[in-house]
Amino acid sequence: MATVNDNYLKLKAGYLFPEIARRVNAFAEANPDAKIIRLGIGDVTEPLPEACRTAMIDAVAEMGDRSTFKGYGPEQGYSWLREKIAARDFQALGCEVDASEIFISDGSKCDTGNILDIFGNDNTIAVTDPVYPVYVDTNVMAGHTGVANDKGEFEGLVYLPITAENNFTASLPTEKVDLIYLCFPNNPTGAVASKEHLKAWVDYALANNSIIFFDAAYEAFITDADIPHSIYEIEGARQCAIEFRSFSKTAGFTGTRCAFTVVPKNLTAKAADGSDVELWKLWNRRQSTKFNGVSYIVQRAAEAVYSPEGDAQVKALVNFYMENAKIIREKLTDAGLSVYGGVNAPYVWVKTPSGLSSWDFFDKLLHTVNVVGTPGSGFGAAGEGYFRISAFNSRENVEEAMRRIVDKFKV
Ligand code: MLT
Repeated sequence: MATVNDNYLKLKAGYLFPEIARRVNAFAEANPDAKIIRLGIGDVTEPLPEACRTAMIDAVAEMGDRSTFKGYGPEQGYSWLREKIAARDFQALGCEVDASEIFISDGSKCDTGNILDIFGNDNTIAVTDPVYPVYVDTNVMAGHTGVANDKGEFEGLVYLPITAENNFTASLPTEKVDLIYLCFPNNPTGAVASKEHLKAWVDYALANNSIIFFDAAYEAFITDADIPHSIYEIEGARQCAIEFRSFSKTAGFTGTRCAFTVVPKNLTAKAADGSDVELWKLWNRRQSTKFNGVSYIVQRAAEAVYSPEGDAQVKALVNFYMENAKIIREKLTDAGLSVYGGVNAPYVWVKTPSGLSSWDFFDKLLHTVNVVGTPGSGFGAAGEGYFRISAFNSRENVEEAMRRIVDKFKV
């Protein structure tokens, strides 16, 4: 008889964002006239930069001509894209990252989950709390945890709370952990890590032979000059960190799909016989076996991000969303709410008013002002009492949503 992967049964039935969509759709069906504004999932709304669209159109034309048609590309991505990424995103910052260490993919969500394929099953895993749910759920699916307790915390994971009390920077674990997920600028809190904070993590990882999974999907939204964009800006990080980057939020690629992962060549972890194994080799093997690369057309669109026009258009896009974040911060502060984040990240993290739980506040906003956000508790137990508002929407919608909230909540 066929059996299932029982680990899936340990998960809550719905992934956070589909669960929100389910509740919102039910409300919309019951209230067809409600003008719902969605500031929940961080999904971009503004058009793909013109440079990317032009590159895609040109690439489609190439696909229509036998002499320029492309079949399978390299599983790791085309070298012309990997070289541009290495040069601008790393070498220009003084980071020693070679094009061959960059693996193009169709998303950081997939990469942060898939990376577990090359690690053993007995690693101790640390996540921040709150956290991007994919890191936890993929470990549950892989059988790296026990069951969840009534707070939703999985047995076997080490949770590092990040709250207003510690300025949203997790303290180093007091025990030894093998794999550490860090996301900066942080989803969901919008917090950033200083060089000193990242240095403390790198030093911890080097001392404990741990590997850091550094998710920098939101690095383009950093506005403060002294905040690191890459973990490789920290000395020693090549010996302990894998970095994930994405074009999704930066260049409006959530529907186009392109991202990349950096695996330094000298980075190793232990085999069962105690020998050191290069992670680059395993990831390369994994990708060559289970992945056939990102489409040529999409990689050409991503390449256009590195042209002078593309660069200017992407910066304008990022500035547009960050202006939204500023409006959200200011208006919610006016409404008497405590807000965090939104300065170096497109997410504003709000303390729920009058002791409301995260889901209570979600329901209240949905039902009274028809605005959707994301309940902080959906990102982990320490997110309870917080609420995330995404800056990804049109200016009109952001302004209208804030007007409604201020009218309702201003004291
Ligand atoms: C979010 O809202 O947290 C993001 O859209 C999730 C993602 O990037 O997968």
